[in-house]
Amino acid sequence: MQNFIFHNPTRILFGEGQIAALDTEIPANARVMITCGGGSIKTNGVLAQVQAALGERPYFVFSGIEPNPTYETLMQAVEFARERDVDFLLAVGGGSVIDGTKFIAAALKFDGEPWDILAKQVEVRDAMPFGSVLTLPATGSEMNNGGVISHRAKGDKLPFRSNATYPRFSVLDPVTTYSLPPRQIANGVVDAFVHVVEQYLTYPVDAKVQDRFAEGLLITLTEVGPQALAEPHNYEVRANLMWTATLALNGLIGAGVPQDWATHMLGHEITALHGLDHAQTLAIVLPAMLSVRRQQKHAKLLQYAERVWNITEGGEDERISAAITATRVFFERMSLGTRLRDYQIGGSSIGALINKLEEHGMTALGEHGDVTLEVSRQVYQLAV
Ligand code: NZQ
Ligand code: ZN
Repeated sequence: MQNFIFHNPTRILFGEGQIAALDTEIPANARVMITCGGGSIKTNGVLAQVQAALGERPYFVFSGIEPNPTYETLMQAVEFARERDVDFLLAVGGGSVIDGTKFIAAALKFDGEPWDILAKQVEVRDAMPFGSVLTLPATGSEMNNGGVISHRAKGDKLPFRSNATYPRFSVLDPVTTYSLPPRQIANGVVDAFVHVVEQYLTYPVDAKVQDRFAEGLLITLTEVGPQALAEPHNYEVRANLMWTATLALNGLIGAGVPQDWATHMLGHEITALHGLDHAQTLAIVLPAMLSVRRQQKHAKLLQYAERVWNITEGGEDERISAAITATRVFFERMSLGTRLRDYQIGGSSIGALINKLEEHGMTALGEHGDVTLEVSRQVYQLAV
């Protein structure tokens, strides 16, 4: 096992009715900015519950944070917050709203041009305090310190992280997910699945419990994913999905083990250039990524085949191929296309994707730093 420091300061309030607990989590004298997306929280009653819990506190609603949140919109939110002199942010929504709020929180305390946090990876030392009410199980943003922000004008989508941008608390009420369209449930399951894979399917370091936690999360997702699509109002299914997605990216399974993240970086470029949902890009890239890097990931792929998919028959190469196919079939069962052509994207866009990876310095990705631009090109080509 590798050395690690693990500290996750986000307090989780889990279960039906927990939105009311905002009253005890947010300072009584706070001036609150609620951040949200395009309106789902207004129609499904979540905003009304939040407003009731805030009681007498002054609050202001900034809506319109879009999926794959943009710098352009978030800088408007920064302006909005400054004009109203708020001192606490409350993100109510999915990963995009929470990621966007992390950026707003950082930008409000940042000296200089906030885009440098992404483009130049300038360190964020301070951020306005914020909490979240999660309405979409997927990203883990509710219990981690990272965010991914897009710059519409530049065609960039870049990640940042800082110890100053952990949510103070997150409310996870599975009932808030009942109104999700099937596409977003499917996206969430696939995103969480790939988060686990990025931290698990690398090379063995004898991290026994991290491996078994990771395998438990993957198996749970294969179980509850299809159920969540079939039974949208099954509380237990939604509760299991919600907590699994949080645990998939809150630092626990990634402590002490090598991490990959190449699939995510190649996926971000597809979203930036073609506007696909985040999870759609992962469903395209991951099967191809595993095929191209099957030698480097040989030992872990065999373990994955056996422990996650019960594949024990046949030679080693055969088992690895069967595990990669099982992964693709699972994504397709969740109704996501797993090839670029499923989204009307052809091989002609690969050159532009590679140029963007190069521009962003993504030239030595993966747990061994051996995913060069040439390897990335092979992955995109295999994904056509
Ligand atoms: O905008 P509204 O009206 O709220 O609608 C949203 C949005 O259209 C809708 N939605 C959310 N909760 C709902 C709901 N609709 C009905 N009922 C509800 N309860 O869902 C749509 C998608 O929302 P979004 O927040 O974009 O989805 P998701 O949570 O999948 O977040 C994706 C973003 O997170 C980033 C991705 O890159 C992408 O930008 N990621 C963040 C990570 C992190 N912070 O650690 C890691 C991930 O790898 C990922 O990169
Ligand atoms: Zn992701």
